Amino acid sequence: MQTVAVLSLKGGVGKTTVVLGLASAALRRGARTLVVDLDPQCNATATLDPAETEATLADVLETPRPSVIRDAIAPSAWGDDVDVLVGSEEVETLNDPDPGARRLEKLGRALAELKTMLAEDELPYQLVLLDCPPSLGRLTRSALVAAQGALLVTEPTMYAVSGAQRAFEAVSDTRDQHNPNLMAIGVVVNKVRSHSYEHQFRIAELRETFGSLVMPVALPDRLAVQQAQGACLPIHQWHTPGAREVSLAFNLLLARVLRSGRRGRHQAIDWPDDDDAEAAEA
Ligand SMILES: Nc1ncnc2c1ncn2[C@@H]1O[C@H](COP(=O)(O)OP(=O)(O)OP(=O)(O)O)[C@@H](O)[C@H]1O
Ligand SMILES: [Mg+2]
Repeated sequence: MQTVAVLSLKGGVGKTTVVLGLASAALRRGARTLVVDLDPQCNATATLDPAETEATLADVLETPRPSVIRDAIAPSAWGDDVDVLVGSEEVETLNDPDPGARRLEKLGRALAELKTMLAEDELPYQLVLLDCPPSLGRLTRSALVAAQGALLVTEPTMYAVSGAQRAFEAVSDTRDQHNPNLMAIGVVVNKVRSHSYEHQFRIAELRETFGSLVMPVALPDRLAVQQAQGACLPIHQWHTPGAREVSLAFNLLLARVLRSGRRGRHQAIDWPDDDDAEAAEA
């Protein structure tokens, strides 16, 4: 089970879109996936459209017991291979800016329980995607404490790049203080318009800052993303040229994410440093 936190400290850059796109690619590939909706806005839950549950993430964060976890997970409307640990507006009240180590560990404990509580006929999750809110409180920090990998999302705009930098510092701090196994998987650049000089300038700036961590596959800005989300469908089931382009990008992104999990078990973390930045410039 590979657990990946998808984050940025800027709102609206595409965290939920990346989570949904990866879940859609995983569904197509037959990789059983759990989406954990940590955002009080509950956008991922809305598009995955699970049946009503007796509990939500708010209950799991208070009491990470197997019975509560089971009650908070439901199959998505997308298919049997994608489940949701459903979000709730109530988690907003739990988003303490300085929650202390015990509380930060509750999500990780719940996800560890998941491995042990599967019924005999249930397949384990290959991928767990944590959709973070755009703030750095208990919710995002809990995701970083629970995850093995962090995937940063940004747009190629000035404010979004600075949000990615702050998110990267949060990853680095969490690794030092709570989770030495946390690996930065990479920075995904979303909503890219290939003919925009401004976007190309910001992508070059990202490469200077993050070096080889900037994912070689960027996600294009396509209306199909919004259309598929509005129809509560996986992007792979939205049959327009734009959707096919975005789906292909998500297939490549998923392959890299899954590969990073296999590599992560054997290799040290690849943090950007001056050498990386120089290599990216060369
Ligand atoms: N590649 C894309 N092409 C077109 N529209 C996109 C793309 N990515 C995201 N969007 C749209 O941008 C909006 C914001 O995306 P999304 O909700 O995924 O961002 P977010 O980072 O999760 O936001 P929040 O910080 O509020 O959680 C949505 O309406 C989404 O459909
Ligand atoms: Mg979101």
